[in-house]
Amino acid sequence: MVFAFAPAKVILFGEHFVVEDRLAIAAALDLKVIVKASFNDTNYIKIQTASQNIASLNIKISIDNLISGKFDYANNFFSPLFLILYNFSKSYPIKYGIDFLIESNIPIGVGLGSSAATFVAFSAALLKLFNYKFNLNDIVNLASQGESLAHGKPSGIDPTISTFGRIIVYRRSQGFHSLEEEFSKPIIIGISNVTRSTAEMVNKVLNLKKKHPYILDLLYETNDRIVNEAIDAIKSKNFIKLGDLMNIAHGLLSSIGVSNFHIENMIYAARNAGAYGAKITGAGGGGAIIALCDENNIEDVSNAILSVGGKVIHSKISNSGVEVYEDE
Ligand code: PMV
Repeated sequence: MVFAFAPAKVILFGEHFVVEDRLAIAAALDLKVIVKASFNDTNYIKIQTASQNIASLNIKISIDNLISGKFDYANNFFSPLFLILYNFSKSYPIKYGIDFLIESNIPIGVGLGSSAATFVAFSAALLKLFNYKFNLNDIVNLASQGESLAHGKPSGIDPTISTFGRIIVYRRSQGFHSLEEEFSKPIIIGISNVTRSTAEMVNKVLNLKKKHPYILDLLYETNDRIVNEAIDAIKSKNFIKLGDLMNIAHGLLSSIGVSNFHIENMIYAARNAGAYGAKITGAGGGGAIIALCDENNIEDVSNAILSVGGKVIHSKISNSGVEVYEDE
């Protein structure tokens, strides 16, 4: 049996702007997806989910249908996984059935990268199961095919951070570099009860940019300035500056229409309770916010988010990216 683990993520800066080749910073979290894979003695690929955050689902497809592309490309939970298998099978013939079990403790559809982590762990498990010599870029490339089907026009930042872990600075056309710094301050994640589709939010922003390029070009430029300043603030551990930059970044996200009443409530609650700064993380429109705190105000900030109806997730920034193991 093969086991692959892939982490959730937070985008610290640059969501949406990164889709149009601007800079972003993302960090891996200690929440994970686990994919277990083993060959079976049927002609079917079987995928099962069993998790607190994914409704228990079960699907199977015959190898013949899979390799001839006879599966539903509609955007349901399994189509991106079938696409990954289909593309894989073009280079590596699939001759035996496979059982996949997907488990996760990442909240779904709130901007913490649950789908990218699933595609990364699934791709890693698949590559390892076939004993093919692979590197981390092979995992990102395979996982990104699933991400493209799920999200339309993804920047690639989600599968990249989930594969490589740590804190990364990312630009679509140039790839990424990791920041060596340990991130010592707590980041509290507040989750609104509104779920949304990343693809819809991305399209909404791209349409606004088409309508008002003269204005939005400047906002995209400002994003890159914020990110460059944020890299300095992370390196010099200047958390007051980092908090200010998060607040400014949130203002930009608000101005491009991805905030809403629930998000603003959580953000102002966190700031008023003493957070250095707070902003949307991920696509917005609901989903999650992050608040940068001091060790001594974790409780106040958490309670403030709870008091306006948000849920609080305690998670840490983690160095781990994807990990894959095999046992007998
Ligand atoms: O799917 P989410 O909520 O983690 O958002 C991903 C970040 C976006 O910039 C909105 C989209 C992308 O592909 O970069």
